[in-house]
Amino acid sequence: MVINFAHRGSLTEAPENTLPAFEKALTYQPKGMELDVQLTKDDVLVICHDAKLTRFNKESTTFIKKLTWEEIQQIDVGSSFSKEYKGLHLTRLEDVLSITPADVLLNVEIKNIPVIYPGIEKKLLDCLEAYNRLDNVIISSFDHVALQNIYQLHPTLRLGMLFHYRLLDTWKYVKDSGLPVYSIHPNHVYVDQTFVQTCKHAGYGVFPYTVNDWKRYEELVSYGVDGVFSNRSEIFQNK
Ligand code: G3P
Ligand code: CA
Repeated sequence: MVINFAHRGSLTEAPENTLPAFEKALTYQPKGMELDVQLTKDDVLVICHDAKLTRFNKESTTFIKKLTWEEIQQIDVGSSFSKEYKGLHLTRLEDVLSITPADVLLNVEIKNIPVIYPGIEKKLLDCLEAYNRLDNVIISSFDHVALQNIYQLHPTLRLGMLFHYRLLDTWKYVKDSGLPVYSIHPNHVYVDQTFVQTCKHAGYGVFPYTVNDWKRYEELVSYGVDGVFSNRSEIFQNK
């Protein structure tokens, strides 16, 4: 059985990583859902891929970490997607936790490094615990020190190690990290059968991102991946 993740919600139907995008994604009953977290000035975990909102709103050039939740709610992140979403603001992690069924595996990606958001790992764990999510979540990051910090705070949590680029031996790098990594999350472009088999032989799950082409998806499944991150509902609805 593969577990495919709705990547940033259903981002073709609503602004990515916002409440409507997650609500749309959930209508497809996905097995997994992915989102990215950042932290506001007043320590609210918000869902956003970038450290600033400029991509949604050209007038907004301040870093999220310098804005309060109150201020962030005044910033429109919907109009650039369509008129229908005019006035939409960022979503808090807790708002998604409260609508996501317990059996949907959430992948929470820590987007910016603890140097930018000191203490984000603890705040994230506290929030997940408050919503009873610790048993059905993968915490992932390209920042492997953040994963180590998560491990030290909660040694049994599922960790997903993200990789932009291929390494000589990814599985060996993961093993040498000493972290009890649950799954390896590579960019799909360099994933081949050997990559999948060596990672799986070493005991890791493999979830490539971001797979939007159906033929490529089937190819990856034939290699033995455990699932993919996808923007396409045909893929993330697992049918
Ligand atoms: O977690 C998979 C994927 O989301 C990682 O890349 O840039 O889309 O956050 P990105
Ligand atoms: Ca992500």
